Amino acid sequence: MAEARLVSLTINGVAYEALAQPRMTLADFLRGELGLTGTHVGCEHGACGVCTILMNGKSVRSCLMLAVQAEGAELMTVEGLGREGELHPIQEAFMEAHGLQCGFCTPGFLLTVYELLQDNPQPNDDEIREALGGQICRCTGYQSIFKSIHLAADKLATAGAGEGAASPA
Ligand code: FES
Ligand code: FES
Repeated sequence: MAEARLVSLTINGVAYEALAQPRMTLADFLRGELGLTGTHVGCEHGACGVCTILMNGKSVRSCLMLAVQAEGAELMTVEGLGREGELHPIQEAFMEAHGLQCGFCTPGFLLTVYELLQDNPQPNDDEIREALGGQICRCTGYQSIFKSIHLAADKLATAGAGEGAASPA
């Protein structure tokens, strides 16, 4: 077996350091080595979007990246949304507008929506459709997800000038 490499990175504002085999995916590293199991793994080949996280502010499929490629990066995972006992406005909106059923796809959707609303605080349906092009949900039929995103946009606008949208925690 190849020699494990030390990977140092920042996740949700916290510094982490752990060993990773050179071929270990970032998704497996997050879940198995760091215990951050909020990031889910589905297809493992970039098709479903469930493993989506933010790396240096941009969404990436963590199943398609190697852990060693994240050396020195700043990541945001679903654990970085909201605070202890307080949901992020996007999470609240998904809960209130029934944007999830089984919830397996939800971490990837939440991070994708977080990125979308940072770039475009009031997206229309076409813009949402394009942003969600890589996210698959087998339960909801997507209509409630669209409603959740519009509700999230309204909540963030009400919260004021990007407050909940601008900071990961
Ligand atoms: S598990 Fe990564 S895209 Fe499906
Ligand atoms: S809520 Fe079940 S897959 Fe999306």
